[in-house]
Amino acid sequence: MFERIQPAPPDPILGLSAIFAADNRAHKINLGVGEYRDATGVTPVLDVVRTAESRLFESAPNKVYLPIDGTPDYGRVVRELVFGTGSGEQANTVTVQSPGGTGALRIAADFAARHFSQARVWLPDPTWANHPKIFEAAGLTCHSYPYYDAASRQLDTERLLAGLAETQAGDLVLLHACCHNPTGVDIDDDTWAAVARILAERGALPLIDFAYQGFGDGLEEDAKGLRIFRELVPELLVASSFSKNFGLYQDRVGALSVVTADAEQASSVLSQLKICVRTSFSNPPAHGSALVTTILNDSDLRSAWLDELAQMRDRINGMRQSLAQGLVRSGATQDFSFITQQKGMFSFSGLNPQQVERLREEHAVYIVGSGRINVAGITPNNLEGLCTAICAVL
Ligand SMILES: Cc1ncc(COP(=O)(O)O)c(C=O)c1O
Repeated sequence: MFERIQPAPPDPILGLSAIFAADNRAHKINLGVGEYRDATGVTPVLDVVRTAESRLFESAPNKVYLPIDGTPDYGRVVRELVFGTGSGEQANTVTVQSPGGTGALRIAADFAARHFSQARVWLPDPTWANHPKIFEAAGLTCHSYPYYDAASRQLDTERLLAGLAETQAGDLVLLHACCHNPTGVDIDDDTWAAVARILAERGALPLIDFAYQGFGDGLEEDAKGLRIFRELVPELLVASSFSKNFGLYQDRVGALSVVTADAEQASSVLSQLKICVRTSFSNPPAHGSALVTTILNDSDLRSAWLDELAQMRDRINGMRQSLAQGLVRSGATQDFSFITQQKGMFSFSGLNPQQVERLREEHAVYIVGSGRINVAGITPNNLEGLCTAICAVL
């Protein structure tokens, strides 16, 4: 039977890492995959994670299955992070633990496919390359709404609002909470409120992808738009990831939180989400969620985590400034100051596919075909070579 199976193309982002690994040029630079790197080019295990790990190593009582939806304690700390202090016990909101943010999105997709099978899924243009694949894999159809204006390198607010007015009752609308991937261009507070009003009026269900909480302006600041939104819509889904902000990429820890009208609806929704989990991965992995719960439940560990998160954020923002200045020093005549205004790990450089290919072939600089640069991969050591390479292909 396997004779009929055709080879699939490599993943546009993770596939690039494999090609990078096979490149033996010593000066190669990987700005493709969305992993944070420190000033030495290493993706560190956070000190606070090491501390929590050693505590868990001493105290972990057993390795029995977790509940299908994860532990109640984990659900509570996730809700506090997403919706703010005091939100952990809200009876109209439920949380299921997931393997990473991807797992949370897939549970949301499966839930929608089971219960709102006619739903159209609306994604921003552009968006993370995996988004449409996740929803299509669950059997849903994806559409795009306008988001980014390439000419001004800003949010295209007017077209965004007009596009969302096309949604219908029962549709699912995905929004990036902060640090939009791939553009780094976020929605401002007024626009969050305007979008919420449109979706509430149309009866469309919002799904907010929260993969970079703390990487933009801060933990609370990055949740601001989402919280404005929550006040204005009756129902909401939020997919959280702790891959980036806790550096737990390989531990696969995330969560799907669902805001409903009341406790009774929340309980019904939770029971159905559990069926989605049980039929895909049965119950979640324990290690990453135990780390997140341990850190967030201990005031010393929590403040150590906030410090390390701030260090990551500050380094990225520092590299944004250095990249913009370095390009000028290397002779770029174009205005690259927009790089310093974007948020999070990514910058939409505006480089076209031919320039991206030349960067890789001629200069061993790896960025995603869309022109997305992972700013967190830039270090003081590779900055000059990178700027020279970019100016050479411009
Ligand atoms: C926008 C967005 N959503 C979700 C994810 C998924 O993250 P995770 O690795 O936790 O599955 C990513 C990861 O790159 C992302 O960029």
